[in-house]
Amino acid sequence: MPFARLMSDPTSVEDPYALHEEIRAQGRLVRTPFVTLTADHALVSGVLRDQRFGVVLGTGDAMPRFVRWALQPPDPEVASVIDPPSLLATDAPDHTRYRRQVSKPFTPRALQAVSDRVEQRANELLDGLEGRHVVDVVSEYAGQLPVAVIAEILGVPDHMHGQLLQWGHAIAPTLDQGLSWHTYRNSERALREFGGWLDGHFARLRHKPGEDILSQLVNADPEDRLTDLELRATALLLLGAGFETTVNLLGSGVVVLTGEDEARARLLADPALWPQAVEELLRLESPVQITGRVAHRDVEIDGIEIASGTAVITLLGAANRDPGVFPDPARFDLDRPNSREHVAFSGGIHFCLGASLARMEGATGLRLLFERFPDLQLAGAGVRRPLQTLRGYESLPVTL
Ligand code: HEM
Repeated sequence: MPFARLMSDPTSVEDPYALHEEIRAQGRLVRTPFVTLTADHALVSGVLRDQRFGVVLGTGDAMPRFVRWALQPPDPEVASVIDPPSLLATDAPDHTRYRRQVSKPFTPRALQAVSDRVEQRANELLDGLEGRHVVDVVSEYAGQLPVAVIAEILGVPDHMHGQLLQWGHAIAPTLDQGLSWHTYRNSERALREFGGWLDGHFARLRHKPGEDILSQLVNADPEDRLTDLELRATALLLLGAGFETTVNLLGSGVVVLTGEDEARARLLADPALWPQAVEELLRLESPVQITGRVAHRDVEIDGIEIASGTAVITLLGAANRDPGVFPDPARFDLDRPNSREHVAFSGGIHFCLGASLARMEGATGLRLLFERFPDLQLAGAGVRRPLQTLRGYESLPVTL
């Protein structure tokens, strides 16, 4: 079964696309005794945008609940990214309430003020690479820029970057299914520590608020204020989603563009092309490959019937290579007219809150890297992150 292999076969981490094509060949909506899934662009976007679908709850998939209870009772006060009250794991009306409270700093207009800071942060990191020959572009640049930017937007001090990256690394696998016990325990521990640190951070912001969104959430009117668990879940997701995804866009961007001399020359000559390059990269190497929704009633989408209660796995990375929408889909094409029709940021009410920020960081981060080091080349194959939902590199050696 291609989906089981997609989730468990280590070779699918390197190349999930062959399995995507096997799934696509089985039909627009593939129903198996265990899962229902789709690689079809119209169905993926239809399911994500349709209000008759809701979120699929995650922890039960990652580790059967009876196993959790047998080994260690779940602590309802430990916030995660895949359980309520995380934005990613709630439907309206709760979702609407949470999202309204955190949207302001991420609108394109609010982000204009952040763009200079993104450039400054990127240039500082690039200054640190001057005079070096071979560097790991993920640990020294692609991984550092997003954490610096989201931490600054949320008012989290610079000295926390390393710790945040460590926690993020341990928590990211919870997005996948079928975790090993060791990975699961590691992520639980990280969630607990992260939550504990957030509580202390909120206490500091209550005492001495800044201009940032977390200070506003912590000090909101009592009727509107989020509970402690809601605050923890929201801050955890904003921080984690802010740096665990964009790193993959930047890392994959380096790999793709070092193999595209002509596109690279055009980008250096005409920096206005960077936003288009980023859309095409998001389509071609989607940093978030998989999500899903469950039908809350019988639904027909684009001529396909889906029964109430069916959980549909939406393969974002496969939909973004649907040959009916994107001809010659495995090719990086800087002139592709419809790259932006990708679903790399999902769709509907859960459409990525950080999409504008990620687009800006992607375009600025890649532009400044290639402008500073125009001869940059890969110095090896790099090591992929052993994850199915997130697609990107753990390390990537380059010569500058
Ligand atoms: C290239 C980078 C990024 C990609 C590919 C990406 C992708 C996604 C996807 C696919 C979803 C929706 C998942 C679903 O529908 O189940 C999502 C949601 C979300 N993203 Fe991003 N993301 C990126 C960067 C960011 C950044 C920088 C932030 C910073 C704030 C962020 C914050 C969020 C939040 C808060 C949600 C939850 C939204 C909701 O449920 O209403 N993301 N992202």
